[in-house]
Amino acid sequence: MKKIPMVNLQPLLDVTAPQWRYNLDEMFSRAHFILGTQVAAFEREFAAEVGAKFAVGVGTGTAAIELCLREAGITDRKQEVVTSALTSPFTALAVLTAGATPRFADVEEGSLQIDCVDAACRATKRTAAFLPVHLYGQPCDLDHFRSLARALKAPLVQDACQAHGARYKGRPLTEFSPYVAYSFYPTKNLGCLGDGGAVATNRPAVAKRLAALRDGGRHNDQVSRMAAINSRLDELQACYLRAFLPRLAEWNADRRRLAAFYDDALRDVAGLRLVKRWPCSVSHLYVVRAARRDKLREHLAKQGIMTAVHYPVPLHLQPAFRDCGLKRGALPRAEKACREIVSLPLWPYMAKSDAERVADRVRAFYR
Ligand SMILES: Cc1ncc(COP(=O)(O)O)c(C=O)c1O
Repeated sequence: MKKIPMVNLQPLLDVTAPQWRYNLDEMFSRAHFILGTQVAAFEREFAAEVGAKFAVGVGTGTAAIELCLREAGITDRKQEVVTSALTSPFTALAVLTAGATPRFADVEEGSLQIDCVDAACRATKRTAAFLPVHLYGQPCDLDHFRSLARALKAPLVQDACQAHGARYKGRPLTEFSPYVAYSFYPTKNLGCLGDGGAVATNRPAVAKRLAALRDGGRHNDQVSRMAAINSRLDELQACYLRAFLPRLAEWNADRRRLAAFYDDALRDVAGLRLVKRWPCSVSHLYVVRAARRDKLREHLAKQGIMTAVHYPVPLHLQPAFRDCGLKRGALPRAEKACREIVSLPLWPYMAKSDAERVADRVRAFYR
């Protein structure tokens, strides 16, 4: 029986091999491994691709968020940052590592994106920033979040770690705030072969300070001018990212095609509910809500089909965030979603026949 993994990166590596080999040769010929020409070139190319003026390469997506908060001066426990209860724990861990306190908002029932009305209700006089997440590749309601952030004079930091190449109403995400954080974890729409991340911004002063904040607060010397961290994108990872970047739009189109196929194949299945997506989504993950979710996953695993859950526990109920003051029942839509959601296999170059087999087996489970 042929196994179907959640993600298969091999075809992406194969089609880009000449480019990344060329970049690696260039890097080895210089023997320069930290903040050299590969990272500088990637920062320019990535900024252009996402429609930003600048990009600053950092060590992880978590660090990208943390550095945005540090740049905005949000480093005190009394400062609260409102984010989604349904996201990777790293979103809120970045708030803790910056020194601030996460506060959680519920999600919209249909799209599972952070609910801007609930986020507004959770804001207090301590609210120092909003950190909405573009979950599963779908930009959240940026018009509302921008208005909310402006009204409260609080910075808007966008967690775009799952949304490489996504635009909101056709406009680059950096038009809505000066802080857009990306992760290059290998399975992302644009991933490297280890950890990596970046912040995109249109503001030269923000880019300059972020470049210092990721590098010990230094400006190409040995003098630290601010409390900062060490979290730089490696030259090695930039070699791969520069090879993958020109394919991002094509890979996103592939993801969208597969997601649309799953939509058509699963829409009418009693026991399943589709998660609402707009055309601007870059379909990082294909997530459905499933009755008897864990049994469905067992059934698929027996047929060699891997699935995942993004995410099984809402953040306000995870031990790391127990100080947030919210108990079970406080964010009912996120809590219910965590019991029902399942992510189906999806990657660029996934064979249509594999997607058909997944959909067939899901339908068979509910028959
Ligand atoms: C929504 C979201 N935010 C933040 C992160 C953290 O990124 P990284 O793993 O690169 O630190 C991730 C990835 O895991 C993510 O999916």
